[in-house]
Amino acid sequence: MNSNIVWHQATIETKDYRSKNGHHSGVVWLTGLSGSGKSSIANQVNKKLYERGIQSYILDGDNIRHGLNADLGFKPEDRKENIRRIGEVAKLFADSGTIVLTAFISPYQEDRDRVRNIIDPGDFLEVHVDCPLSECESRDPKGLYKKARTGEIKGFTGIDSPYESPASPELVLESNAYSVDECAEQLISFLEKNEWL
Ligand code: ADX
Repeated sequence: MNSNIVWHQATIETKDYRSKNGHHSGVVWLTGLSGSGKSSIANQVNKKLYERGIQSYILDGDNIRHGLNADLGFKPEDRKENIRRIGEVAKLFADSGTIVLTAFISPYQEDRDRVRNIIDPGDFLEVHVDCPLSECESRDPKGLYKKARTGEIKGFTGIDSPYESPASPELVLESNAYSVDECAEQLISFLEKNEWL
């Protein structure tokens, strides 16, 4: 980093945004295989929070890769950079008093840990959307597993690229055993229990 760049201290701080909003803010990091239900759960949680007047927002893998990260592919170093940038953006949202829900495969523990380490302790919740590969593959909402099996797509997570399950996530949502709405409720209960809401 250029040593001539100095951090500018904001006049309005995170605590001020939080007190204006009347709730905590932070990063709810959903991780899991493609097709596990991360985006569906994030959207359902976001809708319920919105209806309660909570300031929340979603950062979603497929969408961010259309813009901010359109220059990145799926090689390990690209995924690492993908997660690094999302982590920085998520941190800004958290600083602005927002509960930010992120939905990225984020297959590497090291990359997720790096994000955790730039966020204040307790303000990063790693949520494993846990769904067996066989189930994700049978759902195959975008037809990508099929392409991965035929070799049309190389380096697909779960097929020929690894997914490292979280070692100690704050929460596990079994999206195979519970509906999207039930998973969303479990996540919201967790936020209430931790006094985010
Ligand atoms: S991550 O691994 O870098 O966290 P991210 O969540 O941004 O991935 O993007 C995953 C989405 O990209 C998948 O849901 C899928 O739609 C699409 N995709 C395209 N190619 C791949 C691939 N090789 N591995 C995984 N997902 C892929």
